[in-house]
Amino acid sequence: MNPIERIQADRQDARNHDDPNADLCFLALSESGRPSVRTLVLRDVTADGFTLFVNKTSPKWSTIQENKQAEMLLWYTNSQTQYRINGLIEELDPSVIEQNWHRRPAGSKYMDYTYQTLGPQSSEIDSRDDLVNHIQGLKTEHPEDEIATPESAAGILLRPEVIEMLDLNMPNRIHDRRRYTLIDDEWRTTQLIP
Ligand SMILES: Cc1cc2nc3c(=O)[nH]c(=O)nc-3n(C[C@H](O)[C@H](O)[C@H](O)COP(=O)(O)O)c2cc1C
Repeated sequence: MNPIERIQADRQDARNHDDPNADLCFLALSESGRPSVRTLVLRDVTADGFTLFVNKTSPKWSTIQENKQAEMLLWYTNSQTQYRINGLIEELDPSVIEQNWHRRPAGSKYMDYTYQTLGPQSSEIDSRDDLVNHIQGLKTEHPEDEIATPESAAGILLRPEVIEMLDLNMPNRIHDRRRYTLIDDEWRTTQLIP
């Protein structure tokens, strides 16, 4: 089983066990040597990589433009397995977000609009009330079924180069740690001391 298939299987197992991490990941970026990490919804896992939705108004977008190298961490409790996925981030074709954006919860859609109408994601505002009132105004002026996908909504793919797996679910606490490296479209495996 290659590491992507293993992650897909562990993720499905996590879903079957209602693991709240099943559809999440933790994405680390680095800008000028300053690390930053955040929780994101992991939208899809395919042979190509790991799909995420972000907003281009966020500071992480310019961080990604400067340095596409990223590490994603996955932790599945039931299978007791951690994955550290290293690779390069690329923007997906806008049609991907276009197809998916309308299925997002209303609150997420209005938040995406707020980044364009009130201020960029992660920027400062005077109070939470300002935000709540702004979104209420958007809802009144623009019914949910009339709003289009904002240009700042983006789909990104983390295309993996190296995946490190740590499986704690082994006898005598002798964990199984492997590094998978993608070389010429084939995953090569090396065993590591955990
Ligand atoms: C459970 C959970 C899921 C999240 N999913 C996303 C997501 O899919 N996309 C996103 O941009 N931010 C998501 N966030 C918020 C990010 O962690 C982060 O706070 C936000 O993207 C702003 O970060 P920035 O400093 O990179 O702009 C999520 C947070 C949590 C706790």
